[in-house]
Amino acid sequence: MQILVTGGLGFIGSHTVVALAEQGFTPIIVDNLSNSEFFIKERIEQIIGKAVKFYETDCNDLQAMEKIFQENALQGIIHFAAYKAVGESVAEPLKYYENNLFSLINLLKLMQKYAVQKLVFSSSCTVYGQAEKLPVDESTPTLPAFSPYGNTKQIGEEILQDVVRSNADLQIISLRYFNPIGAHPSALIGELPRGVPNNLVPYITQTAIGKRSILNVFGNDYPTPDGTCIRDFIHVCDLAEAHVKALEFLQQQNGSFIDFINIGTGKGNSVLEVIKTFEQVSGKKLPYQFVPRRSGDVTAIYADVSKAEKVLGWKAKRTLADALADAWRWEQTIRTYQ
Ligand code: WQD
Repeated sequence: MQILVTGGLGFIGSHTVVALAEQGFTPIIVDNLSNSEFFIKERIEQIIGKAVKFYETDCNDLQAMEKIFQENALQGIIHFAAYKAVGESVAEPLKYYENNLFSLINLLKLMQKYAVQKLVFSSSCTVYGQAEKLPVDESTPTLPAFSPYGNTKQIGEEILQDVVRSNADLQIISLRYFNPIGAHPSALIGELPRGVPNNLVPYITQTAIGKRSILNVFGNDYPTPDGTCIRDFIHVCDLAEAHVKALEFLQQQNGSFIDFINIGTGKGNSVLEVIKTFEQVSGKKLPYQFVPRRSGDVTAIYADVSKAEKVLGWKAKRTLADALADAWRWEQTIRTYQ
C-alpha cells in the first residue's frame, strides 16, 4: 500500500516513514528540503533495510505534485510538510499562510482528482490555546490562535471540515500533537533544528554538549507547583506509530469522514522536571538560569488521550526518560556529520 508522506525527511515525518515501513506500508517521500537534510533518506533506508522512493518537490507546486499522483498508485497521504516556527510566523505571516494552506489545498484537489481517499493531517495542541480544563479533550472549543502558525493549523482543520461537508468522498483524521521530543533509539534519525533551537529539548541537548552555554528557562512565576510551564512531552516514535494506527483506522471508513484526535501521553511535566530527568539519564549537570516569560507561552497543557485509545487503539508506550535518553544519544551522534 503506497502512502505519500509529505515532509517525510523532517523530524516527525522521518520517524513515521520508518513506522510505516515496519508495518508493511510502502512510504513515498516528498520533501523540498526547506527544513530537512537529504542524508536522512539514507538513514531511514539503513533502519528499514530497503530503498525509499523520494521526490524533491514543493507541495505548493501543483504540477509537480500532480506528476507524483500520476506516477504512483497512492492509497493514502500523511501531510507533515509545513513551516512550524511560531516566532517566525509572527514576523512573516504571509509566508506561513501561503506555504501551509496552499500545500493543503493542492493535496485536497489532487486527492479528489485521483480518488486518493485517506488523509492524516498534522495538527497541534496549539489549537486549544490555554484550555480552562485540563487534561484537554477534543470537544474543547478552540480559542483564537496565538500566532499565524497556530492559525494555519486551525484554518487547515476548517478547510478539511468544509471539504468533508461538501460530500467529498474523503476520510480524514487530524492528529493534534502535543510536544514531540526524542529520537529513534538507533540514533540514526532525530530532530535537526537549523540555527538556535526554539524548542526546549534540542536546546537542552545542545547545552549539555557544549554548543550553547546555558539554557534559559522562560519564567519561574507561573501558577504551577514549581513555577515553570507544564507540557505533555511525547516520544516521536510513539507519535509516529499513532499515524500508522490512524491510517489503519481510516481503511475501515467510507464516505465523508473526519475526526480530530489528541496525541500525547496524558501526563504533564514541568520544564524543571524535564531538566532534572535529563540530568538523571545523561549523568550531566545542565547549566540553566531563569529569565522572564516568553510571550505567547500558555501556563500548562496536557492531553486527555482517551479518544486515541478508544478510536485508534493507540497509547504512548515510552517514558519521558526514554525520550530524553534517545534525544541525548542522537545529539551525541550529530557531531559526527556537522
Ligand atoms: C516548552 C516549554 C517554554 C525553550 C511549540 C509550539 C507548538 C508545537 C510544539 C509545533 C515552554 C520552555 C523552551 C527554552 C524554555 N508545535 N522553554 N527554554 O512552545 O510548548 O510548543 O512546539 O511545531 O505549536 O508552540 O514547546 O519546546 O518551545 O517549549 O524554558 O529554551 O519550555 O517556555 O514552557 P511549546 P517548546
